[in-house]
Amino acid sequence: MVQTDIRSRAWTRYWASGALHSCDGSFALEGEGAIAAFWRAAFIDAPTQGHLLDLGTGNGGLMLAASRALQAWQLSGVDLSRPILPWLDAGRDGGRIQLFAETRMEQVPLPSGAINLLVSQFGIEYADHQQVVREALRLLAPGGRLALVVHHAESVVTRVAADELRALDLLAADDGLLAATTVVLPHMAALRGGQAPSPAAYAAREAFNRAMREVSALMATLEVADVLGQAQAGVQGMLLAVHPGNLHEALGKLAAYRDELAAAAVRAREQIQAAMTRGQLDAFLTGFREAMPALEASPLLQDGKLIAWAVRGMRAD
Ligand SMILES: C[S@@+](CC[C@H](N)C(=O)[O-])C[C@H]1O[C@@H](n2cnc3c(N)ncnc32)[C@H](O)[C@@H]1O
Repeated sequence: MVQTDIRSRAWTRYWASGALHSCDGSFALEGEGAIAAFWRAAFIDAPTQGHLLDLGTGNGGLMLAASRALQAWQLSGVDLSRPILPWLDAGRDGGRIQLFAETRMEQVPLPSGAINLLVSQFGIEYADHQQVVREALRLLAPGGRLALVVHHAESVVTRVAADELRALDLLAADDGLLAATTVVLPHMAALRGGQAPSPAAYAAREAFNRAMREVSALMATLEVADVLGQAQAGVQGMLLAVHPGNLHEALGKLAAYRDELAAAAVRAREQIQAAMTRGQLDAFLTGFREAMPALEASPLLQDGKLIAWAVRGMRAD
């Protein structure tokens, strides 16, 4: 298991981009689509007042949708990382929205029975399963509801993450494109400065070319290969632009890019680990079933493609 602080930093970095949710660009939380419809249904028959808690809220895209549907509700979100909630206007929202940042959802600083609607979208499955179920049941008031969108092991979202992870692992390998670029850049700068090519420069260039070919070969086999195409274009641009005067800056940019891709790999890896098969979901939900006899869990499809598990339940009085 990757350390908590590394995971927290990897997500803090992602939320700093201002993205509203973790699959930004692939589906909406309001309006069209199966996920938006799931959340509309979860909010539609809610009482006028209550307290919603979003587990693993990230930048709170789900809280934003809830804030429009549940206008007199208190909304709380909890996240291990430090999200920025770019949409939140503290004055306008009158203090009804609160974020517990750098807080584990297994231990939420709210009193028992405080929550009337417990929600999570691609969040709860990242936590320790036993602990988070216990905590969710502690927090939910009698009659309180549960609505979850959970990563499915066979969904298109998980497949994309698996492709992304293969790509990121190849780029970051010891002899991968990023390492080869780090070695070749000083040689290119020296050549541009008028130095004759050395055997080491030839070897570095050859290693770089081989890494580029490996990236192209993987790209041809993946369904989604954006990160590989971007990496190739990025390092080629660096090689074209480097000279003795900007070598230090170029190496700094490359190091920052490597850090960014390493954080993306942490996120993709834990997403794949968190995704559940039917059996894993059933085992996870066992803890809820005693308190929620009518708990339902079904695959969620959008445009004919499997994207997640949808779970709904209500705590018996
Ligand atoms: C895939 S993102 C989903 C965020 C948001 N719910 C969405 O739909 O975009 C998972 C989030 O869960 C958070 N997370 C992971 N483990 C956690 C834990 N044990 N407690 C609280 N948050 C956690 C991560 O920091 C990350 O922001």
